[in-house]
Order: sequence, then C-alpha cells, then structure tokens
Amino acid sequence: MKKLEQIYEGKAKKVFKTDDPELFIVDYKDDATAFNGLKKGTIKGKGVINNRVTNYLMKMLEEKGVPTHFVEEISERETIVKKVTIVPLEVIVRNIAAGSMSKKLGIPEGTELACPVLEYSYKDDALGDPMINSYHALAMKLATQEELDTIDSLTFKINDLLKEYFKGVGIELVDFKLEFGRTTDGKIILADEISPDTCRLWDIKTHEKLDKDRFRRDLGKVEDAYQEILKRLFGE
Ligand code: TMP
Ligand code: ASP
Repeated sequence: MKKLEQIYEGKAKKVFKTDDPELFIVDYKDDATAFNGLKKGTIKGKGVINNRVTNYLMKMLEEKGVPTHFVEEISERETIVKKVTIVPLEVIVRNIAAGSMSKKLGIPEGTELACPVLEYSYKDDALGDPMINSYHALAMKLATQEELDTIDSLTFKINDLLKEYFKGVGIELVDFKLEFGRTTDGKIILADEISPDTCRLWDIKTHEKLDKDRFRRDLGKVEDAYQEILKRLFGE
C-alpha cells in the first residue's frame, strides 16, 4: 500500500490517498482544538492513543455487525480505511446530561436521561456546526430518509454496544459523536473516530472526567486521562 498525496487536513487528522482508489490512509495528530477552533493546543501522544482506541472499538463493533470504515492499522498513528464521502452530520448520542445539552436546557451535568437522546449537527465550521433535526437534513439534502433511518438504527446499536463495553472497564459513556460515510456503492458505514476526543467518558465510581473535557475546561491531567483510557482498554 503506497501513501499518496494528502487530500484533507482536519483539526485532529490528515487523510491521504493510496494507490488503491477505494482506500485512504488516516493519520492522527496530537493537535487539539475546542469551541470550533478558538482554543488550540497539543495533547502529547493523543494521536497514537486515538488511533489505537478508535481501531479497537471499530473492530469490536464490526464483530457485532456494525459496518465501519476500518481496514488495517499500519503504524502508531496511521490506519487504512475504506474510502467514503462523509455525510455532513455529526450524530450525537447522550445517555447522561452534560456539555451543550446541560447548558441549553438547564439540566445539571450528570443527570441520567430517561432514554438516550439522538441529535444531529450540520457539519459546517463556518456556521459552528449548528444543531438541526431530521427535517432540516432532508430539506437540505444532507441525506435521504432511508440513510437517516440506517444512521439512527446503527447509532442506537453502537450506543448499546459501547455503553456495555465501557461499563465493563469501569467507565460511564456519558455522550459521544459519530460520523457516517457513503461508500462508492452507496452503503452507509461508520467512519471518523471513536476516542476520548469524541466521547465523554467518566469513571463509574469517582465520576472523574477521562476525556477531552479536561482540555476544553482546563482541568489539568489531560494526557493522564487519555493514558487511563488506553489502560482500561488494553490493560497497559
Ligand atoms: P456537546 O455537549 O459539546 O454538544 O458535545 C457532545 C458530544 O460530542 C461530546 O461527547 C463531545 C462530542 N463532540 C465532538 O466530538 N466534536 C465536537 O465538535 C463537539 C462540539 C462535540
Ligand atoms: N473539535 C471541535 C473544535 O474545534 C470541538 C470540540 O471537540 O469541542 O473545535
């Protein structure tokens, strides 16, 4: 597999073409941003951890019947993935109130929700990724009804699987963000990453935050939190 030219650079990852037209290589960076890029920093070793954590979780999800873009981890920071076009939606699931939901609705952080909440944001940095609903998504032709149905049912299934998995390693899955992509033949598969950058992960007993909120909120021990997630997943 030959790594060819870079086709995209996001806030946390770069994407490269390969000599196989159906495969890309993603390369995870240590760069961290928050508040739509307003806050910038580096979390040492984050790229390596997010690469490993994402691949581990995607492999687990594949085994349970969730189609993902994962193909093969080729280095500490690089992974071969299936080529997709990203559906411009951030799909967020919340099990416990936190972050923007707590702020918007006045629900104290840590309040258990009676059922999981699924939200969409329109992936557009210039607009600050505004929250939308399925009618907006259809009206703006971001996805078809059939695609939204697939995305929703995969998302709830992923929530059940991840919640259960994290519980087993002493972590509460508070909320998380997913992105889906369309393959060349039009299939919807899970793409992007699942990592402490994109999930809120709290220690079940102490409720200590083990995710990017430590960076967003200047809580300190940011690297330690990412290391702790690695330790819980891999026992390292
Ligand atoms: P929020 O409470 O700020 O809306 O975040 C909900 C979840 O989505 C949380 O687990 C963090 C994740 N997230 C991202 O992955 N990327 C983003 O740009 C934002 C705003 C949140
Ligand atoms: N990654 C997003 C940004 O730059 C936000 C976040 O994760 O909080 O700004």
